[in-house]
Amino acid sequence: MMIAANWKMYKGPRETREFLGRFTPPDGVDLIICPAYTSLHAAVESGRAVYAQNVHWADEGAYTGEVSAGMLVELGVQGSIVGHSERRQYFGDTDETTAKRAEAALGAGLRVIACVGETEQEREAGETEEVLRRQVAVLPRHERLVIAYEPVWAIGTGKTATTGLCQDAHAFIKSLLHVPVLYGGSVKPDNAAELMALPAVDGALVGGASLDVDSLTAICRAAIPS
Ligand code: PGA
Repeated sequence: MMIAANWKMYKGPRETREFLGRFTPPDGVDLIICPAYTSLHAAVESGRAVYAQNVHWADEGAYTGEVSAGMLVELGVQGSIVGHSERRQYFGDTDETTAKRAEAALGAGLRVIACVGETEQEREAGETEEVLRRQVAVLPRHERLVIAYEPVWAIGTGKTATTGLCQDAHAFIKSLLHVPVLYGGSVKPDNAAELMALPAVDGALVGGASLDVDSLTAICRAAIPS
């Protein structure tokens, strides 16, 4: 089981060191920390597996505010999230830029968690499979690629996908592409066990609930098959 902690724009280097000094993941989970760029170094120093939250597609160039895959590799970072819905919603990322970011990262030797997922409007319009098909179609086929299914309406809202809905979406994604699929969207200690027990779920991408040591520990424990 893979548990990826997406810290979003929380925790600078000091808080990152403090958290990782107190946190030991239980055996049996593949734990990944995804801090902000300025905290990557502190996280790498802890010896944990560390991914960035985004990566640019060019090796270098006039791209103010962006960071390349090579720069992440140099820092000891092992991978990157791409296409998170917050990137798509607030920073103009599209299926195409997500694919370019994924290709560049994989090309540089990084691992990639590519996020896909429908909005509430798309689900209500019966477009979920069409959206997932479109988002998955552009992604590179690669052994270091993992997909995170994150229904946009479940992110940071406290609304979690029901187990049936989650299982169906994961099975659909797996029918398109044979890669591990993580679930993301309001994963918490009290719902992690039932979500992680679903046959088509290979782990979780956790936002809010990964910011607290006890809560992340509980989620990791819930992900270990009994
Ligand atoms: P959440 O975020 O767990 O706070 O809903 C998940 C994510 O955005 O990856």
